[in-house]
Amino acid sequence: MEENRRSFGRMPDGTQVEELTLENGRLKCKLITYGGAVRSLIVPDRDGKAVDVALGFDTLEDYRAQDKYMGALVGRYANRIGGAGFTLNGVEYPLCANDGPNSLHGGAMGFDKRVWTVEELTGDSATLSLVSPDMQEGYPGTLTVRVTYSLAQDMLKIGCWAKSDKDTPFSPTNHSYFNLSGHDSGSVEGQYIKLRSARYTPVGAGLIPTGELAPVEGTPMDLRSVQRIGEHIDEPFDQLALAGGYDHNWAIEDWDGQFHAAAMAYSQDTGIAMSAHTDLPGIQFYAGNFLNGEVGKGGAVYAKRCGFCLETQFYPDTPNKPGFPSCVLRAGEEFRSLTGYRFFTLDNAGQL
Ligand code: GAL
Repeated sequence: MEENRRSFGRMPDGTQVEELTLENGRLKCKLITYGGAVRSLIVPDRDGKAVDVALGFDTLEDYRAQDKYMGALVGRYANRIGGAGFTLNGVEYPLCANDGPNSLHGGAMGFDKRVWTVEELTGDSATLSLVSPDMQEGYPGTLTVRVTYSLAQDMLKIGCWAKSDKDTPFSPTNHSYFNLSGHDSGSVEGQYIKLRSARYTPVGAGLIPTGELAPVEGTPMDLRSVQRIGEHIDEPFDQLALAGGYDHNWAIEDWDGQFHAAAMAYSQDTGIAMSAHTDLPGIQFYAGNFLNGEVGKGGAVYAKRCGFCLETQFYPDTPNKPGFPSCVLRAGEEFRSLTGYRFFTLDNAGQL
């Protein structure tokens, strides 16, 4: 085995899980083949000191025992599908209801719980693949997915390619939790966030979008100028109350399918800033409201809001929302998406 590849334990059926290490002289990232998850991401702080900004666990058993989608690749459909089902080409497809009456993050055995195959590994990139058989978790078509993680200068790039032999809804994401003061540093509420979007998709019960695109203007959802994550998060605003904090999809400004920066975050403690880039139409800013004291790497306790996610995606519940940009991958067509997380340092939040 190469040095940047080691065993990370075995599944109950004996399947080997591996850990892969990518490095490019600036960033270092550890991935595991269980869930294709990012297990650590080491970036330099303002003094050049290495800081692990991604939450993760020490053992495969810890990964298998948690339900937070820690660092994982999520699919076939990231986020929620209302009523756990959809109709496509006149056929109804019931899905697994694993979040009240709704389907969350691909169902009971989504991509996050599968062991991915290593297709290719270089010093600074890894390509993982998965075949999801026809009707797995209720979704039509045999779907082949390949995800390439690569370190390009100061950016972690996550490229996804997929092809299905039947029309199927598809919206993959990466569910990394970031804490720019270090994964074990506690709450992210004092860290800064900025989201370029002027509109978001408000939700109703069960966090299913109502179908509207609402202006952020004049609400705590307006994150267009930099502010602390905790600044307005507990205000008595119905959307925040429903979700227990920020846990919403913002619509990418002037979405044109090109790769653009959508969000930025910053820690004054370390000076570490990040930007999230995508070519997809939406981004979920989730403030880790459901983290619940999971014990992570080195015994770190991941309490409520100890990490945030910036999940690039199609809007939640698009399969039931004809007004949203379509997430249907047509039979035989190629799906491609690119997500990027760039890391740099700043002196203060005003520079974000
Ligand atoms: C997020 C989602 C949250 C919660 C979390 C997993 O992507 O927005 O509502 O389900 O995953 O704990």
